[in-house]
Amino acid sequence: MDYEYIVVERPVEGVALVRLNRPKQYNALNLQVLTELAHAFESLDKDEGVRAIVLTGNDKAFAAGADIKEMITRTSAEMKSAPFVAGWDAVAMARKPVIAAVSGYALGGGAELAWACDIIIASETAVFGQPEINLGIIPGAGGTQRLARTVGKYLTMEMVLNDRRLTAEEAARFGLVNHVYPLASYLDEAIKLAAKLASRAPLAVQYAKEAVLFAFESPLRAGLQHERLLFYTLFGTEDQKEGMQAFIEKRAPEWKGR
Ligand code: CAA
Repeated sequence: MDYEYIVVERPVEGVALVRLNRPKQYNALNLQVLTELAHAFESLDKDEGVRAIVLTGNDKAFAAGADIKEMITRTSAEMKSAPFVAGWDAVAMARKPVIAAVSGYALGGGAELAWACDIIIASETAVFGQPEINLGIIPGAGGTQRLARTVGKYLTMEMVLNDRRLTAEEAARFGLVNHVYPLASYLDEAIKLAAKLASRAPLAVQYAKEAVLFAFESPLRAGLQHERLLFYTLFGTEDQKEGMQAFIEKRAPEWKGR
């Protein structure tokens, strides 16, 4: 598939960089962007050469949300039948770790794209918010749910009901952002972190991600059982034998991804 509104690069071995590229509209997420995003994430997730993915926008905007001009005339039925949530879902469903590198505006569906990632790196200029209320709608790509599970009821209410926006520093303080860096270095730092993840035992990284995400979807007992099952399963991999052998022999492990 040829992409018009996203760019996919391989900045370092094992890492894919997906860049939203609709700069004049602050990377507003129209159906074309979302379809391309879904296609890219589904392909990268299957690509054995990719072990971690960085999702970014540009310095001014990660993404300013779903495309308001495209949505304005839509009916409920049209919104429901359009592949509207496919882009967010593809990011959230990736088995490989996904890092959001956010600068500038991350609003509405743009913030929800970041919330769908596993780790969030922000530049000092990043602004996060769910301003849908100003448009007479609510977040529709996970904002109410992922925010409430991450920062709890009260801050989520203020963000969703009253368009409270968070600076990068505030978002970091509330546990929504892992690290804040200067504008000049946030993307390099995200790629560096992705390279580190890509150097680790691939199946263990994927299973670890699956186990953590399961915590958001299950009661504790079911989560513990699921974690244990994944833990036992890894003892059937060559990488578990290699990782432990390398520890005993005091050398670096060589991961095979099986
Ligand atoms: N949809 C469509 N176009 C958008 C857009 C969006 N979400 N955000 C920005 N744009 C467009 C503007 O229409 C404008 O285009 P024109 O030059 O053709 O007029 C261009 O991008 C630049 O925007 P502004 O002139 O508004 O630039 P600004 O610097 O004054 O403000 C901004 C920037 C604060 C991001 C402002 O554009 C803004 O508030 N955008 C909308 C944010 C928003 O409400 N997002 C939620 C969308 S709904 C949603 O996402 C639903 C969901 O949960 C999935």
